[in-house]
Amino acid sequence: MLPSLPCCILIALPALLVQASTADSSKKSPAASRPPAPPGDPSWALGLRLYQGLRLDSVSVNTLFSPLLLASSLSALCDGSAGTTASQLQDLLKAPSPAKTEADTGVILSGALKSLSEANGSSFNLHASTALFSKQASQLNQEFVKGSQTKFQVQHQPLEEGDSKSDLKQFQRWAKTGLGGLEGAPLVAEIQAKTGALFLANALRFRGLWEREFSKESADLRTFLGKKYTKVMMMHRAGLYHHYEDVENMVQVLEVPLWGGKASVVLLLPFHVESLGRLEKLLTVELLSKWLEKTNTTSVIISLPIANITSTLSLQTRLSAMGLTDAWDQKVADFSGVSEKKKEKLYLGGVLHWASLELTAEAGRGGAELEEEHVEKPKLFYADHPFIFFVRDNTSGALLLMGALDHAEGEALHDEL
Ligand SMILES: *[C@@H]1O[C@H](CO)[C@@H](O)[C@H](O)[C@H]1NC(C)=O
Ligand SMILES: *[C@@H]1O[C@H](CO)[C@@H](O)[C@H](O)[C@H]1NC(C)=O
Ligand SMILES: *[C@@H]1O[C@H](CO)[C@@H](O)[C@H](O)[C@H]1NC(C)=O
Ligand SMILES: *[C@@H]1O[C@H](CO)[C@@H](O)[C@H](O)[C@H]1NC(C)=O
Repeated sequence: MLPSLPCCILIALPALLVQASTADSSKKSPAASRPPAPPGDPSWALGLRLYQGLRLDSVSVNTLFSPLLLASSLSALCDGSAGTTASQLQDLLKAPSPAKTEADTGVILSGALKSLSEANGSSFNLHASTALFSKQASQLNQEFVKGSQTKFQVQHQPLEEGDSKSDLKQFQRWAKTGLGGLEGAPLVAEIQAKTGALFLANALRFRGLWEREFSKESADLRTFLGKKYTKVMMMHRAGLYHHYEDVENMVQVLEVPLWGGKASVVLLLPFHVESLGRLEKLLTVELLSKWLEKTNTTSVIISLPIANITSTLSLQTRLSAMGLTDAWDQKVADFSGVSEKKKEKLYLGGVLHWASLELTAEAGRGGAELEEEHVEKPKLFYADHPFIFFVRDNTSGALLLMGALDHAEGEALHDEL
């Protein structure tokens, strides 16, 4: 451990921007237009580990969170910390690949946030907010406040006087604004804000706009074989997509581009109806990038549920299990860069995360008028059972969203006698 290093600088990152220079991958035409490979990216590293942790102890169904938003706000917090608090935050953001180049994690994440704002309104409609709440802390360090605002778009908000119930209400109110007016699922966690507590909060609402519209006319009611069998509207489209079938692992991999090519949605669908546990145990950043590399342009008929996925998470237990232990303990936490007064003991009281995703048939502007592609002997990608999905930014390669649909809301199907 190198606690004396300036935080989040000098974390060696592998060939994030070097992909184009690997001769063999630039020859194949699909790979040439690919964003940077995932293994070097902090949002992928954090996202996949957290996803697997959440799914392990998950009693709830339908997982969703934004690795990029979480990683960038942890990186902001890291800038205000020191000692083991800082090194544990750094470790969360460390990419698994062997180092080839040295880059600043913060710079990568900050750049990825900017490219999101640029794609907003064309490839997707996005609301995204991050706040750092503080409870009865004295003056915050203005340099830290400014830095985290400009680099990571973090707002700073004092928690008003009040008990834990009123704290919860404030978080929930903030989340509703952050979600563009959508009422987020209630937070079930116990919140204990003592003097000096900091709370990191993310809210993200995402509606992708496909490059090519799904047919609205042919959308129809079908059975989704999730945790419960339900009747849901499903949308359909035949076209040419990047697709790969891993026969050994019995999974289809499909990449569906969003309008303008600035982002895409990747779907992992088991061949058969099953819970996602088997597939989740296999997932590594390396395997995911291998799958993505292997996809090639194929005729596919896609059927997807029209659905909303929402999730509210309190991540303290999960992040602790991943090695972030000192930050929560007021005696040992070191957030000396956050506070103006060096002696004030600040600590992390919670990391709260609201996310919502809408799956609709809608395309971006002009997406309905594109010419039909020639479809021949299509593969069927029939997503009538649980699948894993993620949204990646095509410019930066960052992992914007990751989640799973285990259950689609709809009328329950009863056995017909
Ligand atoms: C995306 O654009 C909408 C509409 O212009 C705006 O309300 C929203 O704040 C933008 N989101 C981000 C993250 O920039
Ligand atoms: C990513 O961007 C490149 C360059 O703009 C483009 O050629 C490619 O088709 C895009 N990928 C997706 C999946 O949209
Ligand atoms: C693309 O897919 C076809 C059919 O599945 C396969 O024969 C071909 O080898 C693939 N091409 C690449 C570059 O992987
Ligand atoms: C998803 O949410 C949007 C906005 O709240 C709503 O208009 C839409 O009907 C919902 N779709 C489904 C399938 O529930």
